[in-house]
Order: sequence, then structure tokens, then C-alpha cells
Amino acid sequence: MLVDRFGRSATDLRVSLTDRCNLRCTYCMPEEGLDWMPGTDLLDDDEVIALITVAVHRLGVTEVRFTGGEPLLRRGLEKIVAATAALSPRPRISLTSNGVGLARRIDALATAGLDRVNISLDTVRADRYRMITRRDRFDDVLAGLAAAKAHGLGPVKINAVLLRGVNDDEAVPLLRFCLEHGYQLRFIEQMPLDAQHSWDRAQMVTAAEILDSLGAAFTLAPTADPRGSAPAERWLVNGGPATVGVIASTTRPFCDTCDRTRLTADGQVRNCLFSRTETDLRGPLRAGADEETLAGLWRGSAWAKAAGHGINDAGFTQPGRSMSAIGG
Ligand code: 5AD
Ligand code: SF4
Repeated sequence: MLVDRFGRSATDLRVSLTDRCNLRCTYCMPEEGLDWMPGTDLLDDDEVIALITVAVHRLGVTEVRFTGGEPLLRRGLEKIVAATAALSPRPRISLTSNGVGLARRIDALATAGLDRVNISLDTVRADRYRMITRRDRFDDVLAGLAAAKAHGLGPVKINAVLLRGVNDDEAVPLLRFCLEHGYQLRFIEQMPLDAQHSWDRAQMVTAAEILDSLGAAFTLAPTADPRGSAPAERWLVNGGPATVGVIASTTRPFCDTCDRTRLTADGQVRNCLFSRTETDLRGPLRAGADEETLAGLWRGSAWAKAAGHGINDAGFTQPGRSMSAIGG
């Protein structure tokens, strides 16, 4: 098992399949000039599958989420999903994607064994979508969402980041859109993980502000179900059954219940989005290490996990890797 000194155990594995993306969200990446990982550093499909197998067979991982960058840019995604679905015990399998191009592949992904999707959408306005992502792909995302719903990959979740002065007036429109389509909306507080290091606490739209905005148009009541290790706090909207979630990473950290472990596209294990150290599995894997040796390295990473991300500490410094190179 992946246990740490604080009594947590990590059962939820996030696997980043590429650091590349077909969008350039302003809060994530610069317009241009971001260096990609060299191809030889990237794990190939079989290497990714080998490490997921170690996590499921030897380390108690029960949930595997594929992320990026944008995981749909990975050609072998369906193959990797199918191999993950063939493991025993079969983990739950989900995808965090920007939704562009999802409609085309949803059939193959569902057949391969994908269970759920989380799609990023920060606005319901095409003009703003173009401004935030620097790409004109709004209709593609809507098609991706609809396709995921049609294939029964539900509940289809939408992640939204509000940015001050850009889309901070969209809490209500986003929720109306999700209620109308049966998507489950979660707002995420902006975190200091952007490649250009321009996060500014004062510019962050807080959970409290988001709840205030929503409270003006909807009745919100805390959900009865225990939150467990879920980062989102959820509210019933207008008596339910629809809910809205807020992931208050900065203003209400949930590190004490964290059950995540992360594998980057270049084969590094991270015990936290914000950790400053990584454990290399690519080198040992390529040198022929057996499953138990790899599992031991992974356990060592988990054990060293810090109590919390420290964003609110005086000495906080952003990790060298940005969100798109770690995986959300
Ligand atoms: N802060 C909060 N959320 C972010 N995401 C990307 N960068 C950040 C950030 N700096 C979101 C994406 C996606 C999810 C994986 O994380 O919008 O929905
Ligand atoms: Fe791509 Fe996601 Fe970053 Fe936007 S937030 S540029 S969709 S990786």
C-alpha cells in the first residue's frame, strides 16, 4: 500500500500521458515558448502500462485517472485504457480532458473501458472561450460533452476556473448551463501551478466569492454524503438532485484526506501536485527493475509525502513543474 507518515493511503493514481496541449489557457501556459519534454524522456505505451500494473497489482491503487497536458493527444490512449481495464482487480478509469476532439474518440474509449470524464470548461461564451484558451474550439468542447453523455460516461463532470475580470461573472451562467444539460459542475480555485509563474493570490477568485455569486440565484444546501477524500465540497442546488462542487485548494485545503499519487509522462512519481521532489521510475524500469523494486521506490515516495501543500505558508515556492507537465 502507498501509506505515508500521516496515516493517509494513496489509492487514486493520476497518470499524465503528455505535457502537450492543443489549447493555451492563459492561467496554465504562455502563448508560445514553452518547451515540451524530449520524446526519449516520455514513457512509451508499454512502459506506462507496466507502471500502472505495478500500482494496481502491488500498491492498492483502485482508481486511475488519465490527464495531460491533454491526454487525447496521446495516440495510444485507447490501448492504455484497455490494458488498464484488463487489470485485476479492475480499477475505475477516468479521463481529465479539455474535450476538444473527444466526440471523435468517445466510442473507442468507452469500448476500451473508460468509465467517466471530467471536461474543462471555464465559460459558456464562445468569444470568451477563445480569449481564455487562445483557440477557437468552443463548439468542439460542446460536442465532446454531448458525446460523453450520450455514451453513458456519467456523471459528466465539468471543471471551471474563474479568473478575476475575465469570467468571474460566470458562476451562475455556468451552473445554469450544467443544470440544463445534466452535467456536474465543479469550480476550482486557481492554484500557483502555471508555467509562467504569474499566479497572484489577490487575483484568485475564492470559494467564498463563488458561493456568494451562486447564492444570489440558487438555494444551496450542503450535501448529506460524507466528503471522504474528494477535493470538492458539494452543495445541493435548489433542493437537488443536482449538485455543484467547489474545490477550494487554497482557501480550504483538503490535504489531510488526500489519497492521490501521480505519475508524470516522463516516468516520475510525485506524491503531491506541489512537491519539490520526484522519484524516478523510468530509469529503473528501463534498466530492467522488477515489479517489486519499482513498487518499493513508489512506496518510498508516498512515505515522504508532506502534510500539506504549503501554499499558505510564508516560505511557499511554486514547484518547478507546471500543471500541464504534472497532470491535474
Ligand atoms: N489552477 C487551478 N486549476 C487549474 N487547471 C489548470 N491549471 C490550473 C490552475 N493553475 C485546471 C484545468 C483542468 C484541471 C485539470 O485543472 O482547467 O480543468
Ligand atoms: Fe491545456 Fe488544460 Fe492547460 Fe488549458 S488548462 S492549456 S486545456 S493543459
